[in-house]
Amino acid sequence: MANNDWWKSSIGYIIYPESFCDSNGDGVGDLGGIIEKLDYLSALGANLLWIGPIFDSPMDDNGYDVRDFYKINPLYGTVDDLKTLLHKAHEKGIKVLLDLPINHTSDEHAWFKKALEDPSSPERGYYYFLKGKREGDRLLPPNNWAGFFSTSAWENIPGTDDFYLHLFTKKMPDVRWDNPELREKFYEIARYYLDLGADGFRIDAMAHIAKDTSWSDSALVNPNGGPVLDPSKFSNRAEMFGYLNEFNEKVFSKYACLTIGEAGGSIQPKESLKLVAHEGGPLNMVFNFDTVWNNGNFDSIDKKDEDIWTDLFQLRFNFMHWYEALHDKADMPLYWCNHDHPRVLSQYGSTAYRNESAKMLFQTLLFMYGTPFIYNGDEIGMSNANYASLDDFSFDRCAVNAIEDFKKRGYDEQTIIHYMNRTSRINARTPMQWDRSENAGFTKGKPHIKINDNYLQGVNVMDEMCDPYSILNFFQYAIGLRKNPIYNDAVNNGPLQWVDPNHPDVLAYLHDGATKLMVISNFRPYTVYFTFYYDIKDVLLHNYEGVILNDHVITLRPYESFLLLVR
Ligand code: NOJ
Repeated sequence: MANNDWWKSSIGYIIYPESFCDSNGDGVGDLGGIIEKLDYLSALGANLLWIGPIFDSPMDDNGYDVRDFYKINPLYGTVDDLKTLLHKAHEKGIKVLLDLPINHTSDEHAWFKKALEDPSSPERGYYYFLKGKREGDRLLPPNNWAGFFSTSAWENIPGTDDFYLHLFTKKMPDVRWDNPELREKFYEIARYYLDLGADGFRIDAMAHIAKDTSWSDSALVNPNGGPVLDPSKFSNRAEMFGYLNEFNEKVFSKYACLTIGEAGGSIQPKESLKLVAHEGGPLNMVFNFDTVWNNGNFDSIDKKDEDIWTDLFQLRFNFMHWYEALHDKADMPLYWCNHDHPRVLSQYGSTAYRNESAKMLFQTLLFMYGTPFIYNGDEIGMSNANYASLDDFSFDRCAVNAIEDFKKRGYDEQTIIHYMNRTSRINARTPMQWDRSENAGFTKGKPHIKINDNYLQGVNVMDEMCDPYSILNFFQYAIGLRKNPIYNDAVNNGPLQWVDPNHPDVLAYLHDGATKLMVISNFRPYTVYFTFYYDIKDVLLHNYEGVILNDHVITLRPYESFLLLVR
């Protein structure tokens, strides 16, 4: 692997292109919109973008279903727009990662069409086709596997006994990485974009590229009946490591690029070293989901809001076991949420304390070990969508399938809406709120999805820019501190330890090197107390006015958070 680690001091920013900024008035974000906002991103301090998938797609899964990898989605622009974006970003010192889905294509991709048309074609071997099981008159799928979107992982080809595998929507057939010819196709695609100037990839659904090809039934049981989701059948399996080693050998290692694979929830930190260790790992980092749902919100339709509670013991455990396994051997990204999760402000913070909790959450993450990623909109305190009807969720196939499933299981509409508003990934996909003008300045046309109307109450970039105590200005200042070589060094070289790890409400940590940096954060909407015995040399950043400190006890107001230099 090429020896470079420019990302050690990078600040990542995740752009969900469909909802970021629309430059041509068709109601959908586009590359032109991202280009317009490069100055904004640069002023914020972001210098590493991960842009969601921009390839030609029928948009059954918002671009993760690629029809043609060599064409830019016309909704977003052209290859020339991409070149301009890369060029202008580079001029400003911003690197750009493209999002490359490698586990599946669209069913409208020429390969899949050919595979269906001509079962003897090489393309047939690019996908998993299996015979179903006949039981009397009934034709059943080859096994009991469910995919990630609440349905069977198999779809029948009408008029035949054949099924194809799809771990996501039925319009997204999985491709066969055990076919060397297919692998070469993806290597070519990756080379094409690296040669165009992309600085690397976020590799979508990477964890699932190898399957249990014995195709045996899962022994797990779905308590609600029907197919069962069993990631052990298709996530982070042994063969995946070999495929990625080859990808690195043939492609990544030839470029000074950054690769971050989506490893999902089922990889353990030690195992991930096989992928990301400085010595011999084929990739640079993996995204895991371990710190995303530490409040019991996942799969929580039967829970009341009061039962959703950020569990700091779990959060500490998850941060630390990744840190301990990786910090001296590998790099890792840090993030609270992306386009697949609810907004972090609604998840771990509070809309009642928007300003305080948004700042607290960012500060807590920013000074941990790793490369931090901001999800677009978090820097202005965007929160969950709060939709009123099930129809509002209809543009996301994942949500639609989940809603159908809940209905079948007998849940009433209001319960489902409430649950979706709390957990759905749509929450993070509403348009970016730029100002108070119509459609929050996102588009001059009709937005492709409803905008959160709190942009009229000040949740927008323009209002935030004008307020010296805003979330946005705090983010900008905090990023400046994080990039300061002395603090950056303290963060990267630790050693990191928790302070008062048994505190139920406060997450506090110390980088205990030559420069001692400490973060103390109250995760609760009420006042709590925190005892500590360090001398404060300086308060570098704080989301409240005044420090209440008596006899080694700090009073922390709702979501109060400090960044301290201590002795
Ligand atoms: C992970 C992506 O982040 C998600 O949005 C998508 O639905 C699946 N992979 C399938 O590509």
